[in-house]
Amino acid sequence: MSNLLIINAHIVTPTGNSARCGDKMRELLDLPCGYIEITDGIITAVGEGDMSPKEGYQVLDAKGKCVLPGFIDSHTHLVFGGYRPDEFVWRMNGDSYMSIMERGGGIYNTVRSTREASFDELKEKAEWFIDVMSRMGVTTVEGKSGYGLDCFTELKQLEVMRAINSDPNRKVDIATTYLGAHAVAPEYAGEPDLYIDFMIDKMLPLIHERGLAENCDVFCEKGVFTVEQSRRLLEAAQAMGYGIKLHADEIVSFGGAELAAELKALSADHLLHASDDGVSAMAENGVVATLLPLTAFTLREPYARGRYMIDSGCAVALATDLNPGSCCSGSIPLLFALACLYMHLSVEEAITALTLNGAAALGKADKTGSIEVGKQGDVVMLDCETPNVLPYYTGMNSVLHTIKSGRLLF
Ligand code: NIG
Ligand code: FE
Repeated sequence: MSNLLIINAHIVTPTGNSARCGDKMRELLDLPCGYIEITDGIITAVGEGDMSPKEGYQVLDAKGKCVLPGFIDSHTHLVFGGYRPDEFVWRMNGDSYMSIMERGGGIYNTVRSTREASFDELKEKAEWFIDVMSRMGVTTVEGKSGYGLDCFTELKQLEVMRAINSDPNRKVDIATTYLGAHAVAPEYAGEPDLYIDFMIDKMLPLIHERGLAENCDVFCEKGVFTVEQSRRLLEAAQAMGYGIKLHADEIVSFGGAELAAELKALSADHLLHASDDGVSAMAENGVVATLLPLTAFTLREPYARGRYMIDSGCAVALATDLNPGSCCSGSIPLLFALACLYMHLSVEEAITALTLNGAAALGKADKTGSIEVGKQGDVVMLDCETPNVLPYYTGMNSVLHTIKSGRLLF
């Protein structure tokens, strides 16, 4: 049933239909004892005080519990074949992420396994991750392709996501992103510009025609795709109607944040080495800075400057980056603690980053990301009255219920 009435809840939510930037990330609506009415999966009333039970509605008493918008994990690579635990151990012993990739491992390792994997294998594995993540409060997740690089496998990854989305009882909505520019396809080794041509001429129109991806992303990084190559691909994608995103300034400072600002991308992600000018330009141009603390943690890299970005007026989002290589974790609890402890976000800022700003990074802030009338009935109930439990239960799940489109999942 998707008619639900939540009563006696401590409701905490950002508000609005677009990303909140700078100081505004701290301003949350706080209703100490409120109600939420969800009708046919959409929020139809929110307020403080009593709401009498209605016929046809399941009632959930949230006395002593905090209720937040469902979490939006706006950057993941959740459809992939194989695993790479050996690379994790090599990195523990001093190898670097890029040197493993240069030797034909890294992303190329997963490309081989994903090409070999069947549709059903990929789907089952992605559904396993989705199950784990939705127990931690995720109601919308982004999914990128990028482990096929060839036409057949990129379509296979995107079709897996479409199949999951078509289940009426799905636990999450997947926002789909074409990341053919994750690495130069082996078939185009040494010819990155020809590979960019292939994506522009063949893949982008095909994927668009089939409605398989909403957004287009590129790994803009030294040794992968240059700023010029990234610009060419993203401009073509934008002209076809894709939202655009970048993996930017992850390993070195490379001008990715500046490019994101120039193109007014939905988001630039990672940003460990984003320059001061890049951060200012992103703030001025409304580009969401999507920070991925779990990746910095697992790669033992310095964290992106979350505090500085917010103080510079940026809208910051937080996401897991779940993938088989740099960060095989979808842990929302650990992500939240790292963002508060090491990126110096307040609890209020981290909530906005993981809800409304995540939705904005996917171009969906008008549909989800806050508890407001007209938005999807996607909410989480914590097993505590205060949202401060989120970083405090360090690495442990404080979510009691995840509610997707008004359906109680667990
Ligand atoms: O966001 N940096 C590029 N892409 C992913 C890692 C992909 C992989 O190693 O398989 C990331 O970290
Ligand atoms: Fe990524």
